[in-house]
Amino acid sequence: QTIFLKDYTPFGFEIDMVHLTFRLHPERTRVISRIAFRSNPNAKDADFFLHGEELTLIWAKVDGADVTPRMEDNGLRCAVPDRSFIWEAEVEINPGANTALEGLYMSNGMYCTQCEAEGFRKITYYPDRPDVMAPFEVRIEGDEKVLLSNGNPGTTGDGFAEWHDPWPKPAYLFALVAGDLVNHPDRFETKSGRDVELNIWVRPGDEGKCAFGMEALKASMRWDEDVYGREYDLDIFNIVAVDDFNMGAMENKGLNIFNSSCVLASPETSTDGNFERIEAIIAHEYFHNWTGNRITCRDWFQLCLKEGLTVFRDAQFTSVMRSEPVKRIGDVIDLRARQFREDNGPLAHPVRPESFVEINNFYTATVYEKGAELIRMLKTLVGDAAYSKAVDLYFERHDGDAATIEDWLKVFEDATGRDLTQFKRWYEQAGTPRVNVSEEYQDGTFTLHFEQSTPPTPGQDVKDTRVIPIAVGLLSPNGDEVVPTQVLEMTGAKQSFAFDGLASRPVPSILRGFSAPVILERESDNAERAFLFAHDTDPFNKWEAGRALARDGLLAMIRDGAGPDDAYLDAIEAVARDDSLDPAFRALAMGLPSQEDLAQSLYEAGGTPDPQAIWDALETLKQAQAQKMQDLATRLYAQYQVDAPYAPNAEQSGARALANAALGLISRLDGGALAQKQYDTADNMTQQLAGLSCLLKAGNGDAAVALFYEQWKEDRLVIDKWFSLQVIMADPDKAAQTAQTLTKHPDFTMKNPNRFRATLGALAMNTAGFHHASGEGYKVLADWLIKLDPLNPQTTARMCSAFETWRRFDAARQAKIAAELDRILAQPNLSRDTTEMVTRIRGG
Ligand code: ARG
Ligand code: ZN
Repeated sequence: QTIFLKDYTPFGFEIDMVHLTFRLHPERTRVISRIAFRSNPNAKDADFFLHGEELTLIWAKVDGADVTPRMEDNGLRCAVPDRSFIWEAEVEINPGANTALEGLYMSNGMYCTQCEAEGFRKITYYPDRPDVMAPFEVRIEGDEKVLLSNGNPGTTGDGFAEWHDPWPKPAYLFALVAGDLVNHPDRFETKSGRDVELNIWVRPGDEGKCAFGMEALKASMRWDEDVYGREYDLDIFNIVAVDDFNMGAMENKGLNIFNSSCVLASPETSTDGNFERIEAIIAHEYFHNWTGNRITCRDWFQLCLKEGLTVFRDAQFTSVMRSEPVKRIGDVIDLRARQFREDNGPLAHPVRPESFVEINNFYTATVYEKGAELIRMLKTLVGDAAYSKAVDLYFERHDGDAATIEDWLKVFEDATGRDLTQFKRWYEQAGTPRVNVSEEYQDGTFTLHFEQSTPPTPGQDVKDTRVIPIAVGLLSPNGDEVVPTQVLEMTGAKQSFAFDGLASRPVPSILRGFSAPVILERESDNAERAFLFAHDTDPFNKWEAGRALARDGLLAMIRDGAGPDDAYLDAIEAVARDDSLDPAFRALAMGLPSQEDLAQSLYEAGGTPDPQAIWDALETLKQAQAQKMQDLATRLYAQYQVDAPYAPNAEQSGARALANAALGLISRLDGGALAQKQYDTADNMTQQLAGLSCLLKAGNGDAAVALFYEQWKEDRLVIDKWFSLQVIMADPDKAAQTAQTLTKHPDFTMKNPNRFRATLGALAMNTAGFHHASGEGYKVLADWLIKLDPLNPQTTARMCSAFETWRRFDAARQAKIAAELDRILAQPNLSRDTTEMVTRIRGG
């Protein structure tokens, strides 16, 4: 059944208070609810429908009198009085049997919850929709040492604990945790003097991996006060680490629940990348307290209202904590790999979708990452000061509301006087705009001619013109910046911008900082790209020029059988050699476009990407780079070893990234000898894993793989790395087999999403292996998705997107993928989640 944005109607009732009592039992938990309802003056529909799924109703009462509700598939209906009344019910649920990890479930003997988006209906009968907000009082009865819920602690006694959350919230922010946990405690004093107790709760044995997350939390709390004027609003803030979790983390009010991979960190077990990600996710969930919780979404179509804004905020935070250009470049790499891919395939949907079957399928790169790009564009268009003013107005006007994108845009209109009608199309229209640019120079005047267009996407044939902020700077032929960055505001389908008074024809640097999520189409040549790579003052475009050089060279290798491009090799060596540049930036610049990136470019140009040819070209170019940069790589490797004790900061991780990029080149020539040495002597996971991956690449990893397992077999998160690295590094003709063999390993389990993704998700990430002409990759993944779906529909459905690019390929591959998609669809009782995903992929 499809749900439409246009059908929104408010619920017929409001809630004054929710009381919940949980009598915990692994197979027979009882949930007793007492809810004070009154009718909603703004609603016409007075139908009393409560959502409920997989619940056993024991009894129900209205104002103390027994009632017999009409039971339906997804809930119940009941006659209620035409005034305030009390609904009471007792239900029984089975958390031990909950493998979908939605609602109340068990993970390693602890109870935990995941309610977003619609999991609360698996806990009790309730209007499970985000526009119904209420204060909650919760009593938990259980033998576990730690019993947690949202809000502030109340009375605690032997075998029970009570919690009061004074802030009205929708049910999706409800959380409960019970288990024999230990905490890493701290405190934080807010600007106005509130003393907040902080805890990170983990299983015994993990308490040594909490310190970094705690520092990140305090830094986030301070930053949100300083930059957005947002203070924390309860006496306690709890974070809990859970091993079995479908996503990264969840912003439940006062009780954030994290996938343990997104909070637990130690130098020995986590890479620099893990540390950075953990810091960002802690910040993200914390920032939701205002953008998501205090102001929530009216309905799930508005998901980007909280997610796009919060991703944007966490990116701002990371840019301050670390390097702004490095964060931006990383984000754009990710946006192109995941969001452009989505936007240009059968799953394309607007940042604010207009319909869905299963909302869990819309926690996408488009809603999150493109959603954040829209906030970024808005800020670019109105300017920093106006952005702050508008956001202040948003908090002031909508605190306590379940709001919409219209509300969000209105505060910007009111604060700036700007008409955002055209900007709103970014929320409504799917697809990545193409911006074509050509140039003209005459008598000191340089003119840029832009033209925009967006190809049709499923269900949206015609696209309107959008407003596009295009940041541009001009360089003189000797490399000086003659026109510093300015933002051109493109509003027409075709539009030209002139710059006069120039002494000579300049070299333009267009779309600086990636000022809009578009594909820029521009004729250029190697010489100009090398010039910008060497001279551009905008770090993003400097990197982008190098990337374009690499991409063009690779496309020529793939399409025309050309050899490695000398212009690229020279330019990359010059940048890698330049010690005045940030090592992290140089490491990024030395990286090549991904297989996905190249496949997109080939397809975009009307070609049919051959995954094996793409892989071969990348290997050839890397090998040429290794040969050419032999001496430099040796110098960089030695020079950028970190002598100081390990710290996961930007400076050290940049040095390690550059040294490990050099190691990657060296290992192509020495058979892995240096990598083996690094592996043997590493005292941190970044170095150890880099050593291991170079050894695997060199074909000499067997011994290290065995040693690594022995060393880390007790550490779940490290063993996830062990699974995924073997699959990702496997040669294309061995990838499917490697994944399949690992599924037979005693440590493989389908029930843990991290382990499943580490094995089968990794197969999808091994692009050439997954798309191997034999079709084995497709078959192995489809087999396992079919097995997982009955247990965990949400994770299964997400992983189906591995197939979303199928229309790009040759007829033989398309036929093989279509057969697997049809095989999945033919499964009896296939979940709604997976059915929707596969149907959309197949049909698009
Ligand atoms: N709101 C969470 C976050 O972005 C993600 C929760 C996703 N849950 C889901 N069932 N799709 O931080
Ligand atoms: Zn979020």
